[in-house]
Amino acid sequence: MNHAERIIVALDLDSKEAIENILVRLPDVRFVKVGMELFYSNGPDFISFLKDKGLKVFLDLKVHDIPNTAYRAINVLSKLGCDLLNLHCAGGLEMMQRAREALQEDTKLLGVTQLTSTSQEMLNQQLKIPGTVDECVLHYAQLAKEAGLHGVVCSPREVKMLKSELGVDFLTVTPGVRPAGGQLQDQKRVMTPREAILAGSDYLVIGRPIIQAEDPYGAFADILQEVEEAFDEQTIN
Ligand code: C5P
Repeated sequence: MNHAERIIVALDLDSKEAIENILVRLPDVRFVKVGMELFYSNGPDFISFLKDKGLKVFLDLKVHDIPNTAYRAINVLSKLGCDLLNLHCAGGLEMMQRAREALQEDTKLLGVTQLTSTSQEMLNQQLKIPGTVDECVLHYAQLAKEAGLHGVVCSPREVKMLKSELGVDFLTVTPGVRPAGGQLQDQKRVMTPREAILAGSDYLVIGRPIIQAEDPYGAFADILQEVEEAFDEQTIN
C-alpha cells in the first residue's frame, strides 16, 4: 500500500466550496474521511463527488441504534461505494452482527470502541463503565471481531494490545494523532504519527493539524515523511 493511503484526512468542514479549496491544496492525499457535518450538509451525492476524484472514502457516521435500524442504515450507506464505514460497538453484539450482514459492495465495517476524547475519569464517572479504558476498548474490540467486523476505530495507544489479542489482520484505524508539539484540542488519548505507525496502526485519521494548518500541503507532507520514516524504522528493527 502507498504510504499516503495510510493517512486519512478528516474533512471536517461543512461546504463543498471549502472542501474543494482544501483538496486543491492537498494533491497528494489519497484517503479522506467524511463526518457528520459534511454528510448532513451535503448529502449522499458528496461521496460520489469524492470517489470521482479518485479518493478513497471513510464515511464516519458512527451508527448506533436498534439492530434492525442499524441493518437498514448500513445497507444504504454501503451502497454509496465508500471504502470504510463505522458504527458504535456500544450498540452491542446483535446490532454489529446485523450491520455486518447488511454490508454491500467492497465496504469494510469498523466498530468505534471508545472515542479518543474519552478519558479514564469520564469513562468511570460519567458513563458509569467500571475498569480501565484499555479493558473497555479490548472488550468492545473482541465483540466487534465476534460480529465479523473488519476492525475498530481506537486510540493509537491501544493498538499494540489489540493487535496482540486479536491478530494483526484485524484493522486498527486511529484518530487521536498529533504531530509532536501540536495542539491536542479535544483529543485526550494521543500519539504522534511515528508512534502510531510503530505501534501497528493501519490507518491514521488526522483532521485539524492538516486542514486548519496555515500550510496544509506542508503539514501533510511532514506527516507523510514521518510515516515513511516510521515504516523504514520498522523494517530495520
Ligand atoms: O481534528 P482531529 O485530528 O482531532 O480529527 C479527528 C477526527 O476523527 C474527527 O473527525 C473525529 O470525529 C474523528 N474520530 C475521533 N475519535 C473517534 C472516532 C472518530 O476523533 N473515536
